[in-house]
Amino acid sequence: MIRTLFWKNDAVVMLDQKSLPLKERYLTCWKHEEVVAAIKDLTVRGAPAIGVAAALGIALGINRLRDQSPENLKKEFYSICDQFSRSRPTAKNLFWAIERMKKRFEEIFGLPPEMIKKNLIEEAVRITEEDIAVNRRMGAHGRTLIQDGDTILTHCNAGALATAGYGTALGVIRAAHEEGKKIHVFVDETRPVLQGARLTAWELVKEKIPATLIADNMAGYLMKQGKINKIIVGADRIAANGDTANKIGTYSLALLAGAHGIPFYVAAPLSTIDLSIKAGDEIPIEERSDLEITHFQGIRTAPEGISAYNPAFDVTPHKYIEAIVTEAGIATAPFEKSISGLFKE
Ligand code: MRU
Repeated sequence: MIRTLFWKNDAVVMLDQKSLPLKERYLTCWKHEEVVAAIKDLTVRGAPAIGVAAALGIALGINRLRDQSPENLKKEFYSICDQFSRSRPTAKNLFWAIERMKKRFEEIFGLPPEMIKKNLIEEAVRITEEDIAVNRRMGAHGRTLIQDGDTILTHCNAGALATAGYGTALGVIRAAHEEGKKIHVFVDETRPVLQGARLTAWELVKEKIPATLIADNMAGYLMKQGKINKIIVGADRIAANGDTANKIGTYSLALLAGAHGIPFYVAAPLSTIDLSIKAGDEIPIEERSDLEITHFQGIRTAPEGISAYNPAFDVTPHKYIEAIVTEAGIATAPFEKSISGLFKE
């Protein structure tokens, strides 16, 4: 099994996703600032993995504290949480994990410092393990949507690497493959950072799931040719009405799917759903550095002097989404009702 990030010997260990697929190396973070930096520079990425990284990073920061007076513990805890909450804006899972760590901290504040540290580490490890279990449940629900012979397009990386393990959209694909269904996956390379070509393709090759890599701008042509009969993607934040923020390019795929009568599915845990946001236009969209557009892996590909615009995510209106797969079941239109029902199960 691919292990994306975990707690080991009082440190946070993560697979360095910037080095994949050329090098498989693990990075050990001894300070919470290193985990914040790893989230910002995409060493660890994907909404659920970012949440897990923050939980582990908060535990790491508190575990290393020298001045353990209650006042200092409290001050540092909230300051560390704040540093994580400013690392990336779009993935709801980040804020969900920080809230969970805060809730635990408030429950245990007043215990001796060693107990506070121990409890925070335990909570972060629990969040890590629960993430894998949730993905497996999502896979069990989602595989019912996949049939023998399906040719499925996915975008970005919503696999083991985007989570603590197993994956969301790719978890559904994995679950269908494990069941013996004969499927073929088309992988969008996912410009500008190539999460599809570098990460999803790496996972599929490793697991021997039949797959073909395409450039993003080929998707429409393949749909027209009848080469794709389903699309499944992950999500960074889902509004109460089902509008879904995911990697830039997802919206165009959903429109193309609609035009070709191809079902478009989203797979995400409940921790990605933001019930405080009514509709997609309220979702904060991260803008990343121009360098991701003007350069390719450090090499300039555009002329000096050109300006660039680099939104990292877009929002797909719920009307283009056939179903949202979660660990609690599958939501379909009307989404407002079906999504709120998932939280009551
Ligand atoms: O910028 P990234 O690589 O963090 O973006 C990741 C995505 O958009 C994923 O599709 C999403 O987080 C779902 S991951 C299970």
